[in-house]
Amino acid sequence: MSDNEDTLTIRDNRTGNEFTLPITDGTINAMEFRQIKEKEDDFGLMVYDPAFKNTASCRSAVTLIDGDKGILRYRGYPIEQLAEHSTFLEVAYLLIHGDLPNQVDHDAWVHDITIHTYVHQFVLRAMDGFKWDAHAMGKMVSLLGSLSTFYPDSKNVRDPALRHEHIVKIIAKMPTMAAWCFRHSQGRPYVYPDNDLDYVGNFLNMLFRMAEPRYEVNPVLRKALDVLFILHADHEQNCSANAARAVGSSEADPYCSLAAATAALYGPLHGGANEAVLRMLREIGDVKNIPAFVDNCKNGEQRLMGFGHRVYKNYDPRARIIKGLAHEVFEITGNNPLLEIALELEKIALNDEYFVKRKLYPNVDFYSGLIYQSMGFPVEMFPVLFAIPRAAGWLAQWSEMLADDAQKIARPRQIYVGAGERSYIPIDKR
Ligand code: ACO
Repeated sequence: MSDNEDTLTIRDNRTGNEFTLPITDGTINAMEFRQIKEKEDDFGLMVYDPAFKNTASCRSAVTLIDGDKGILRYRGYPIEQLAEHSTFLEVAYLLIHGDLPNQVDHDAWVHDITIHTYVHQFVLRAMDGFKWDAHAMGKMVSLLGSLSTFYPDSKNVRDPALRHEHIVKIIAKMPTMAAWCFRHSQGRPYVYPDNDLDYVGNFLNMLFRMAEPRYEVNPVLRKALDVLFILHADHEQNCSANAARAVGSSEADPYCSLAAATAALYGPLHGGANEAVLRMLREIGDVKNIPAFVDNCKNGEQRLMGFGHRVYKNYDPRARIIKGLAHEVFEITGNNPLLEIALELEKIALNDEYFVKRKLYPNVDFYSGLIYQSMGFPVEMFPVLFAIPRAAGWLAQWSEMLADDAQKIARPRQIYVGAGERSYIPIDKR
């Protein structure tokens, strides 16, 4: 390809001036547009892109999604291979460090995470401040933010050794806080981490152990949750990763940056969708109600939760794996009656012109909630189960942002559409 072909020539019809802008990696640097001015003292052209529909906000080597082909890779590894062969902690290492660990590095990583699972006892005092029916995600946001006050040195975000120390702490403490959020809402005593158990086994123990001397972790459920953690670990520049990067760009500490990301994940259009799917399936209640429900979605009265994605215009590869996983879990837990409604809903939607035309396919949240429910989780815990593994992705994105010289504090421009200058009028004259 000649140099000429890697450029874009623009003619400004207001002035007749022509500009040749370089194309790099299929993009134009938005700052190039600033040279395009009507008058010398103009600000120059900006690009307008609410919701970042066509704007790359960073260069990233963490995760690749090809939305048209339904491809998802972490650091180059297809999600299907990671789900089949890896473990969540190995995937977390991969996301953070860029490569799969050798045995020595793997063991050191697992050891470091394991010995940091305890959370300061004062965190439980913060927990006591919540009402008994406080949503688990609201509690997670607050507890994560509160950890910032326990680790003031985490503010030294430019220190790579400290950064790594707090990355380990966050990945280690997420399951502990999540399990305690659950125990709090159940009014059950808190169970402390057990270093003899692996990451997921320890989490299940802290969630469900009662009076038995040793909680028996079911290997199929442990494996299923580990795979779900792998599938949720990162998803490039989604709403919550963007929040982690944006807040982190002000050099806020990682606990506050991740509290912001968790808050972003909470919304029903993002990680809260798994909770919304379950509520939707319950509301539909019976296969015979599906056609009327689908009609409501088509005429815009409601959304088919767990369907559609900003990037995937094909079947979400994670949804395919989760659908298979659901059957394995239900063999242990017994069938989930909502599965029949979900399968029928999917069948109808995938054959309906409205959904086909808009390329709306099941996303990661469509089936995950059914598994969580069958494992004994209340719906409020669903987005928390998403946040635990996604912390690894957020931290990988956050570290990459800090190491990227092109990044500065995130600060978009606006098109001001408000009133022109006007004089203040005293209240008695208005
Ligand atoms: N049900 C019905 N119609 C839908 C749905 C849906 N779930 N999703 C999109 N559409 C329609 C829109 O109404 C719009 O139709 P129009 O062109 O006639 O106006 C068209 O499809 C495009 O939708 P947008 O909202 O423009 O797509 P966008 O990329 O902004 O939204 C989103 C993506 C938020 C995921 C959307 O599909 C949605 O709300 N889905 C349901 C919630 C959900 O499952 N979220 C989880 C996403 S995965 C994750 O975050 C982990």
